[in-house]
Amino acid sequence: MTKINAAITAVGCYLPEYVLTNKELEQMVDTNDEWITTRTGIKERRILKGAGKGSSYMAIKASQNLLEKRGLNATEIDLVIVATATADMPVASTAVYVATEIGATNAFAFDLQAACSSFLYGMSVASAYIESGKYKKVLLIGSDKMSSIIDYTDRATCIIFGDAAGAVLFEPNHDGYGLQDELLRSDGIGRSYLKIDAGGSILPASAETVSNKQHYVFQDGKTVFKYAVSNMADVSEKIMERNNLTHNDVNWLAAHQANKRIIDATAHRMKLDDSKVLINIEKYGNTTSATLPLLLCDFEDQLKKGDNIIFASFGGGFTWGAIYLKWAYSK
Ligand code: UT7
Repeated sequence: MTKINAAITAVGCYLPEYVLTNKELEQMVDTNDEWITTRTGIKERRILKGAGKGSSYMAIKASQNLLEKRGLNATEIDLVIVATATADMPVASTAVYVATEIGATNAFAFDLQAACSSFLYGMSVASAYIESGKYKKVLLIGSDKMSSIIDYTDRATCIIFGDAAGAVLFEPNHDGYGLQDELLRSDGIGRSYLKIDAGGSILPASAETVSNKQHYVFQDGKTVFKYAVSNMADVSEKIMERNNLTHNDVNWLAAHQANKRIIDATAHRMKLDDSKVLINIEKYGNTTSATLPLLLCDFEDQLKKGDNIIFASFGGGFTWGAIYLKWAYSK
């Protein structure tokens, strides 16, 4: 039997309509377009408005976009994974609800949480299920409603994040396309630098935690930045080395969109030309689990069968890693 690779065979995405620009943020906190643009590369981000809409709302829309583009009936899906740091609610799985709502009635489903690396880790998990030979169609969705955990009076975080969802379908491939190698890492030292203090089992919600604004994201940006730059570049360089890839062999870098300066540093270490670096941070900001599938969605037309793509991410925890994937189709 030939080796089974897990290939991405379809992509979909969803972007909320509301555009929050740097100009509008200038009215909300003490910041300015010039600072945000030069420090992060972000110009605007999307915000999901409307009561009762959580990450599942965007995950469902992104999945429906994928199913429609691919002409796939949801009953064919075996497994639905929702990568998210902003699940609809504690305990009840977001993925289970999404699977039911899209009509994936033959699938089992679960959530995967690894902060900004949720989608990258999800690629590893989805691929392992496919490579095992047990499952044929795994839907991996990255969806985050970051606006639900951001304090819009805190200029250190509110300028960075946005809401969005993206989805990919993994299927078996017997011709060598798909996931080739992965290098995933984590380090608990990161827990103090990027976190939400309250609302979990250590410090459950109370009137006091709410009034102290402990349900919002706290980030020590400078420290996270330092770890992100060195670790994301390290794994990206290592995965190239151990697969004997030079910068000429790599067609694209699809890196987590947290800060353009972090992406540039990674590309520099890989000796990659700017033209090979997929960037859309200026339009969406950091959408956590959605950044990688959003890149695939935006640049799908440019990706060619056989292209070598290096995916890389860094996020809270800390969690980080790189994946080497051979793209399986041309549009
Ligand atoms: O996706 C998960 C992983 N997360 C990341 O990878 C994010 C990593 N961190 C970063 O991207 C950057 O650290 C930030 C974009 C968050 C901040 O950029 P920075 O260059 O590290 O700025 P800083 O925090 O060192 O702040 C520099 C200055 C400070 O003023 P002083 O102390 O030098 O007077 C800040 O108070 O800029 C000030 N500042 C701002 N000024 C205008 C901080 N935020 C703002 C703001 N507008 N929004």
